[in-house]
Amino acid sequence: MMDLRSDTVTRPCSKMREAMAQAEVGDDVLREDPTIQKLEEQAAMLTGKKAALFCPSGTFANQLALFTWTKTGEEVYLNENAHIIQHEAGASAHISGAFLRPIPPQNHPWIEWEDIQSRIRPVRDQHFPIPALVCLENALSDGTVQPIDSMKRIYEGARNQGLHIHTDGARLFNAALALQVSPKEIAACTDSLMFCLSKGLGAPVGSLLCGSQNFIDEAFYKRKIMGGAMRQAGILAAAGLVALEDGVQGLQKDHQKAQELAQAFSAIPGIQVLTPQPQINMVFLKLPKPSQGELFLRTLKDAGILTYPPENDVFRFVLHRDVEEAPFHQFLTQLPALMGKVLR
Ligand SMILES: Cc1ncc(COP(=O)(O)O)c(C=O)c1O
Repeated sequence: MMDLRSDTVTRPCSKMREAMAQAEVGDDVLREDPTIQKLEEQAAMLTGKKAALFCPSGTFANQLALFTWTKTGEEVYLNENAHIIQHEAGASAHISGAFLRPIPPQNHPWIEWEDIQSRIRPVRDQHFPIPALVCLENALSDGTVQPIDSMKRIYEGARNQGLHIHTDGARLFNAALALQVSPKEIAACTDSLMFCLSKGLGAPVGSLLCGSQNFIDEAFYKRKIMGGAMRQAGILAAAGLVALEDGVQGLQKDHQKAQELAQAFSAIPGIQVLTPQPQINMVFLKLPKPSQGELFLRTLKDAGILTYPPENDVFRFVLHRDVEEAPFHQFLTQLPALMGKVLR
């Protein structure tokens, strides 16, 4: 099967498995795991932040950021489509107790400073929650990327209002590639940032929360509360180091494949490709009729292609390092015939 459900489905390569087997480890609760420390130093270096903390997942790292930046009931401003709101099982209600203020984006998939500014409570008043944090996402879950200038304006505006910014950079390296900037340039527009090793970079586990030394010291304590302090987790960090060393350069190929797939779907009359020129490794599309969805999924599955059922009638295809060239290109040539069966 060619699994295009997500870039989370990749399996660790032999180099990662080898590194895991050889990893030097210690008790990371006691800060004695040299491989974790190396990974955290590497993450801090790549993002230009002072420090970083290894976390079990992206959801964990995002929620840890909220838990670290906010007190219960304090207000967090974020895009209503953000992963933190839509796909983290309402975790902030369980963990930080932060009050999430969803903001509908206006002219772009991302939110701009004006969208946020108009929602910030003008005065401290008994009726209002206390403003604390802005959360951004880059790349966004819909496969677009927020321009650096837009992030900078938000960073400046939020700072002037005494708010911190956290950025969900689950696909930070994809975003950096699409924007043609370094990950550091994105990280320079936010106080804290998390990125995932287990998406396009191909590691089996792990995300890094990055920020100032004070922020990470506080997050270290809160990570323990969340049950995320692990012992000889260097065995996992070893795969993460390989992911950072080798995974980033492969992302260009994933982006290229997404462009080819979008083109192939765009050539089929009736299909509405929502990302005709994908910016990262994701392609989104709609069929002429939602009722064709089941046959679409079945036809693809019979041809060896997996994708998730649609969300709001939108199908998503994600390209990644385990998608091999030859079967992928064979699929592209078969696509018109396959779609003929679905759309007739
Ligand atoms: C934008 C974004 N943020 C956060 C996450 C959460 O990562 P995890 O699945 O490791 O919890 C994901 C996962 O796909 C994501 O796409």
